[in-house]
Amino acid sequence: MRLKTILTIIAVAILSAAFSAQVHAAEQEPIQPLKPAKITNPAKVELGKQLFFDPRLSRSGWISCNSCHNLSMGGSDNFKTSIGDRWAQGGIRSPSVLNSSLNIAQFWDGRAKNLSAQAGGPIANPIEMNSTHEAAERVLNTIPGYRTQFKKVYGVDKIGIDQITDAIAEFENTLVTPNARFDKWLKGDKKAITAFELSGYQLFKDSGCIACHNGPGVGGSSFQKMGMVNEFKTTNPSKGRADVTKKDADRMMFKVPILRNVELVPPYFHDGSASTLTQAVETMGWLQLGKKLTPDQTARIVAFLKTLTGDQPQFTLPQLPPSSDETPRPDPFSKK
Ligand code: HEC
Ligand code: HEC
Repeated sequence: MRLKTILTIIAVAILSAAFSAQVHAAEQEPIQPLKPAKITNPAKVELGKQLFFDPRLSRSGWISCNSCHNLSMGGSDNFKTSIGDRWAQGGIRSPSVLNSSLNIAQFWDGRAKNLSAQAGGPIANPIEMNSTHEAAERVLNTIPGYRTQFKKVYGVDKIGIDQITDAIAEFENTLVTPNARFDKWLKGDKKAITAFELSGYQLFKDSGCIACHNGPGVGGSSFQKMGMVNEFKTTNPSKGRADVTKKDADRMMFKVPILRNVELVPPYFHDGSASTLTQAVETMGWLQLGKKLTPDQTARIVAFLKTLTGDQPQFTLPQLPPSSDETPRPDPFSKK
């Protein structure tokens, strides 16, 4: 009886030690699970969603945020560079808007400090939506359905660009993708990923990828040099962070991309030069770490990266409030 009790106590102690070691280990991982978005103002989110899908924010009446950040395709457009107003060729690859609220700053070079600061950019960018803030305000102020909503959410009679970008940012804050298989593994479900995928995660940590791609976003938290060990050759004119700071030391420093849902958004890198994830991983190994990864190692890391795909945003497609007789008409073929 006594011996049995002692044995039971020992068994429990061993089990709980093992369990706590496990829990402890998960907490110590350099990647943390994504938390689902907290929605505190549903009316604002709904308004932001409509604006995100509304092509009337563009001069042509044809391009919406969703044109280049397609939420049915991982929040990007899968082009090397985007297509803007009158088929203008963009200068850089469109990053995903999914989980973008986790970014240290917005854009590849971090020139916008947050999502609301970012959202005004594309509306007025001549090779994107090619409108102006005034024109966007003019359009929305003629749409009764928007006026009612802005009045309700912001208490304003006249819609201004600050409220437009604030509402869009609020919607973007909800575009998080929790419950990836890797998150389930982090939370203790050891069967959520395969041994092959787990070995890819080990390689990701052991070879040093984790130094730059870490945290809940598996990236997004710092600017780092593209071509740390070996030089990155590209014809793309962007100099990264140096374009903002004008400092030579910041040449080719780019925001480390978030690797959540990365399998959904080829091609890769700011210039879209890696057309597959395999190619991107091999290139990273060589440029950032000076390592020639073997095909087997690359395949393992790629398999791990695919476990980072989470629940994609689920919502009803927004119904946009109709234009009124006063609403300026779209101008898709303008020569201006
Ligand atoms: C014509 C294509 C196009 C349209 C339309 C467009 N974007 Fe973008 N977006 C891009 C490109 C390209 C970049 C990267 C630009 C850069 O880094 O210099 C970008 C960057 C972003 C980023 C930064 C993400 C990051 O990881 O840094 C966010 C957020 C974003 N866009 C949201 C929006 C919103 C909101 C709208 C609508 C108001 C919009 N975009 C319209 C192409 C587009
Ligand atoms: C020194 C920091 C650093 C290290 C180490 C590093 N990366 Fe990166 N990674 C970056 C930066 C910066 C970019 C963006 C570069 C660009 O677009 O010009 C990037 C881009 C990527 C991309 C493309 C994502 C996209 O959306 O375009 C993938 C995939 C990636 N890294 C995986 C890895 C893997 C796998 C490793 C290890 C073999 C690794 N990285 C090591 C900094 C790093």
